[in-house]
Amino acid sequence: MNFKGRDVISIGDFSKDEIIHILKTAKEMESNPKLFLVGKLMGTLFFEPSTRTRLSHEAAMEKLGGAVIGFADPAVTSKKKGETLQDTIKMVDQYVDVIVMRHNHDGAARAAAEVSKVPIINAGDGANQHPTQTLLDLYTIQKSQGKFDGLKIVMIGDLKYGRTVHSLAVALSHFKCEQYFVAPKSLKMPKYVITHLKDKNIKFYETEKMGGVLSKADIIYMTRIQEERFPDRAEYEKVKGVYILSKSKLKNVKKNMKILHPLPRVNEITQDVDNTPYAYYFEQAGNGIPTRQAILALILGAKK
Ligand code: CP
Repeated sequence: MNFKGRDVISIGDFSKDEIIHILKTAKEMESNPKLFLVGKLMGTLFFEPSTRTRLSHEAAMEKLGGAVIGFADPAVTSKKKGETLQDTIKMVDQYVDVIVMRHNHDGAARAAAEVSKVPIINAGDGANQHPTQTLLDLYTIQKSQGKFDGLKIVMIGDLKYGRTVHSLAVALSHFKCEQYFVAPKSLKMPKYVITHLKDKNIKFYETEKMGGVLSKADIIYMTRIQEERFPDRAEYEKVKGVYILSKSKLKNVKKNMKILHPLPRVNEITQDVDNTPYAYYFEQAGNGIPTRQAILALILGAKK
């Protein structure tokens, strides 16, 4: 399997075997990390705020012996003077071996990849895709449950603007999981994801009520209502705080059930959940390191 030079734009660009290979490489990275990337330089271009995605990519690169340059705030770059994304990429690709980019526009990562000489890793483009988050989510599900087939995965919250759930639903369609989507009418999973699941004969259920599905779940994947993506403030006010998972709601859940969240959380998981055996979101964030080490080592040709 050869990943050298590939972009990571959408989870749909990767086959089931390729995804399984990345997860296997992540496991190797976790148990036996080596200085695979000495002499390699990564550029992190973050046009939107981030804590985990940027820091875990940077930590992953530095722990593998590589180095990092970049920015976390576009206001301190020449974007302020009107430089286009294409020009920025055509210049940065002469400095670095790989670019990790987050951008507020859907499709920006694909547009960057079209002009870049070095691989582009999509660290989130608008409400569209967040493929490396999905790979670490899959790694976390496999690590906590030991399998994918037969699991019931419940995704709750903002399924319209939450890009992580779009990528996750598509990735899980490679496996025999049942998917449950809990969202208000205005924040349902986009049609293209639903069509994809139907085409692949995946069992899925849509509901507005959280209470009925919690006891079925092997994984509860909570998401934040994405305030910054609502075109209309009044629409956000109608749905903010619509689903709140508290310890009292976990009385009848399965023993093996784990709660994931891409983070940051606002109020959708109360802090009294953190000390239950079900909370797994901080471990999930930690899994960003071996997963992103695997992606970097594979696309930079240091691993096959
Ligand atoms: N999960 C995630 O994308 O977090 P950040 O926005 O902090 O990068």
